[in-house]
Amino acid sequence: MTPDSATRYGTVSRTLHWGMALGLGWMFASAITHSLAEKSALDAFLWPTHKHVGSLLMLLVLLRGAWALMNAGRRPPSVGTLAHLGHLGLYGLMVAIPFIGLLRQYGSARAFSPLGLPVFPGRDADTAVKWMTDLGGALHGELGWALLALTVGHVFMAFWHRRRGPDVLPRMLG
Ligand code: HEM
Ligand code: HEM
Repeated sequence: MTPDSATRYGTVSRTLHWGMALGLGWMFASAITHSLAEKSALDAFLWPTHKHVGSLLMLLVLLRGAWALMNAGRRPPSVGTLAHLGHLGLYGLMVAIPFIGLLRQYGSARAFSPLGLPVFPGRDADTAVKWMTDLGGALHGELGWALLALTVGHVFMAFWHRRRGPDVLPRMLG
């Protein structure tokens, strides 16, 4: 186990970064398939996992954020203000998207047991909260696509800096 330091991210930070990258990759695969090929065999396989994996990612991003704050003083410094703002944007979206998804789920009054854990019991349909379902309908998917775009930019910039310097990839890998 290595801790975070000024030159590299430690074991816990790396595990959270790459584990969540994998989980988010799964989420984007499920969302893209659902929007382009609803009713395909792949959609039938991926879509039922969307809410469950998304809820797990919500929990992980809270842990990751707490860990980042606890280690803020000993992490590698951002290469610039834009990189710092980009990382903050990624965090903001990683929290907001599943939170809004869960809020819509609660507002719908339907029972919800992510990964089999009972979180919301079902309620009468007349207790549904319209602003919650409206907010989810208006923002959840849109912010999800914005996170995909920001992530593509993030990965692009990681490889850009590898060529133009400073190479930040070894901080998170190797
Ligand atoms: C980080 C986690 C998440 C990401 C990145 C994400 C991303 C997305 C995206 C991009 C869409 C649009 C798909 C389309 O247009 O067909 C979508 C749809 C949806 N998501 Fe998520 N999601 C996440 C978590 C959740 C959670 C936790 C729930 C529920 C508890 C949820 C429920 C839904 C539902 C019901 C839809 C279909 C309705 C709609 O398009 O808004 N998602 N999600
Ligand atoms: C192939 C995919 C990815 C690559 C190559 C990559 C690469 C990197 C690198 C090199 C760093 C260190 C940057 C620095 O210290 O200046 C970093 C940090 C970071 N990355 Fe990624 N990344 C990937 C996927 C993702 C995804 C999917 C997310 C979330 C949507 C993400 C969010 C972050 C955040 C928030 C940081 C700041 C450190 C932290 O708090 O974890 N990355 N990434």
